[in-house]
Amino acid sequence: MKGVILAGGLATRLYPLTHATNKHLLPIYSKPMIYYPIETLVKAGITEIMIIVSGPHSGQFIQILKNGKELGLKHLEYAYQENPKGGIADALSLAEDFADNKPITVILGDNTTDADISQAVNSFESGAYVFLKKVSDPARFGVPRFDANDPSKIAEIIEKPKDPPSDYAVTGLYMYDKNVFDYIKQCDPNSAGRGELEITEVNNFYVKKGALRWAELNGYWLDAGTFDTLLMANIYWAKKISPQTDTLIKNT
Ligand code: G1P
Repeated sequence: MKGVILAGGLATRLYPLTHATNKHLLPIYSKPMIYYPIETLVKAGITEIMIIVSGPHSGQFIQILKNGKELGLKHLEYAYQENPKGGIADALSLAEDFADNKPITVILGDNTTDADISQAVNSFESGAYVFLKKVSDPARFGVPRFDANDPSKIAEIIEKPKDPPSDYAVTGLYMYDKNVFDYIKQCDPNSAGRGELEITEVNNFYVKKGALRWAELNGYWLDAGTFDTLLMANIYWAKKISPQTDTLIKNT
């Protein structure tokens, strides 16, 4: 399967850090943030990747990732999203030719996880597949409402709900069949009031067709889009990559 990493946007929540570079190139311990989603895909056997960039620092991706060989990629291409505020689904629409009518795995460039998604990737055939994670602050995410009669089914996903219907976040890790691009074309830029094409609306098209499946993500997961979650991701990966960091942090 091919993979798509969405690494655009202005990341205004991280100003002034993101005046200097793109959010996805900020450090998480010893590596630029985008290394982590790339490694997640490579671990799952996905080595043909498109990265979608936008905003004033787009050129820096090539300086850092080059052709992706050092990270184990066989093929790396880039697409440029003209409107950095267009949203996740708008960015994904640029991967239509790259996907070539076949399924794709999509990951948001600020999502770091140590989960192994190989099995889900290898068995994916059609529809859409999302990974959920239990969180303490679901209102920050897309949140599933489970079917009251059959709790194994998602009845709807709500983007940043004021009153979350469950404790789960829909993580920024998705698999889609070729229909995803038709659904994106039907998206309403204001479905969640942010003026963006929302990936949650795309997922809800699959829900309505009875074609959305899910699993709980088995491992650590965090999106590093705020100062606090960026710090938490740094601490987690520092301890994992370099265990002596734990003592250093305790002594700080
Ligand atoms: C985006 C999605 C949201 C998802 C989250 C995961 O949120 O819209 O559904 O739960 O990523 O990281 P955003 O980063 O745009 O606030």
